[in-house]
Amino acid sequence: MKAIIPFSHQLLEEVINQGDSVIDATCGNGNDTLMLSKLVGDTGKVYAFDIQEKAIEQTKALLLAQRVENVELIHDGHEHVVSYVDEQVISGAIFNLGYLPKGDHSIITTPDTTIQAISGMLSLLKKRGRIVIVIYHGHKGGTSEKNLVLSFCEELDQKEYQVLQYQFINQINNPPFVIGIEKLK
Ligand SMILES: C[S@@+](CC[C@H](N)C(=O)[O-])C[C@H]1O[C@@H](n2cnc3c(N)ncnc32)[C@H](O)[C@@H]1O
Repeated sequence: MKAIIPFSHQLLEEVINQGDSVIDATCGNGNDTLMLSKLVGDTGKVYAFDIQEKAIEQTKALLLAQRVENVELIHDGHEHVVSYVDEQVISGAIFNLGYLPKGDHSIITTPDTTIQAISGMLSLLKKRGRIVIVIYHGHKGGTSEKNLVLSFCEELDQKEYQVLQYQFINQINNPPFVIGIEKLK
């Protein structure tokens, strides 16, 4: 069985093509941004958000080292996504909720802004596009965010979206899990 991160990437690899526009909602150290930039290629575009200067700088350094030029780094909250992307062109988006690994653990994604961002991205998603959310919830504040995201996703109309949860259920210490949302029409 695939681990959480490879599975989250697989969900996106299945729907993202060269030339597409995609979103990394939480670029952090830039690992997912780099993965997305390879999937969309030179003719595509990645919008990568983070509220922390440190995350933007680390992602910029990684992209420079890899000679990546198809990423727009956005030092702003993902809840403002519709101010940066104005067409229904997105084939994939990824969130890694929680705090920046090796960073300030008090700066975390928050329930209301996360829901606002997911809603905004659903409106920008193409038919068959997917939003993948990796939910880290072991930290303070993580449980309320997890619960709000789950109840928001459970209420999405099944005629418009299919939603899956991928989770190992015999691991201790609140392991992360994946939510995948696919737009049907
Ligand atoms: C778990 S980390 C992301 C890890 C990243 N995907 C990687 O590969 O390294 C979560 C990130 O979300 C960022 N963040 C928190 N609130 C945010 C918001 N409203 N908009 C965008 N990023 C946010 C944090 O600064 C942190 O860097």
